Amino acid sequence: MRNFSETNITEAVLERIAGATDPRIKQVSEALVRHLHAFVREIRPTQKEWDYGIDFLTRTGHMCDDKRQEFILLSDTLGVSMLVDAINHPVPEGATETTVLGPFFVQAAPEKQNGDDISGSMEGDPMIVTGSVSTVDGKPLPGAVVDVWHSDNDGYYDVQQLDEIGDLAMRARFHTDANGRFHFWSIKPAAYPIPHDGPVGEMLEAQGRHPWRPAHVHFMISAPGFEQLVTHVFVAGDKYLDSDVVFGVKDSLIHDFVHCPAGRAPDGRMVDAAYYHLNYDFGLKRAAGNPQAA
Ligand code: BEZ
Ligand code: FE
Repeated sequence: MRNFSETNITEAVLERIAGATDPRIKQVSEALVRHLHAFVREIRPTQKEWDYGIDFLTRTGHMCDDKRQEFILLSDTLGVSMLVDAINHPVPEGATETTVLGPFFVQAAPEKQNGDDISGSMEGDPMIVTGSVSTVDGKPLPGAVVDVWHSDNDGYYDVQQLDEIGDLAMRARFHTDANGRFHFWSIKPAAYPIPHDGPVGEMLEAQGRHPWRPAHVHFMISAPGFEQLVTHVFVAGDKYLDSDVVFGVKDSLIHDFVHCPAGRAPDGRMVDAAYYHLNYDFGLKRAAGNPQAA
């Protein structure tokens, strides 16, 4: 076949794909072609606009390396990451809701003991985080691995300022105790703009959007036989809760970071300055193929 036109090009490409032997590849390829062609038919780009689109994606790719993932930012800011998350993580009663991972997770976070202060050399408002990890019906999970990470009080993560601070901070890996509980000290995180000096920032500006995320603490929690939980707890009252640039906020993940006077802290320690207290109880969903786990 030749001489393709606006009316027959889509069918021609679909016919070309029809011989794909892997049914999933066939399904995904066909949907991609149908939706992409429908998009082009709807917007009817000029050649110059199409060239801009190709250049935008090229620059997005060039901005990606082991420290910066502009394609994930693009997926996040277009709501695609949260859509994929919603499709893959239905939440049964008692399980904590999920949200985006984000680009600032570090695989090899320092192992810490319950009660440790993970703020490193960072200055800010002291914060104690206490929490528990249990099954959906409230059975404590001892030995669960709890990864935490958060921004400083200017909204920067350690990995964004390693040259200045020298070492990882405001991130750690804990294990829950015999009662499924964990706790640590750090500093209260602040709201921050996602990296917006690249194509994604250019897109946000053109769309009349701000680049901010409300203040939050990230948690990644794993226990054998349970689905890994990737989530955040957001600071109640933050002004960006209703306009998070990556659409990651859920009501159940918003919590008070209670301002407490100096005195005896929840871990029994005497503290001589006011501090914030976040307490959050997490529920893990049983993994498929683990019927005996509650
Ligand atoms: C974060 O919360 O760390 C994050 C999530 C998505 C995009 C950028 C940052
Ligand atoms: Fe974050």
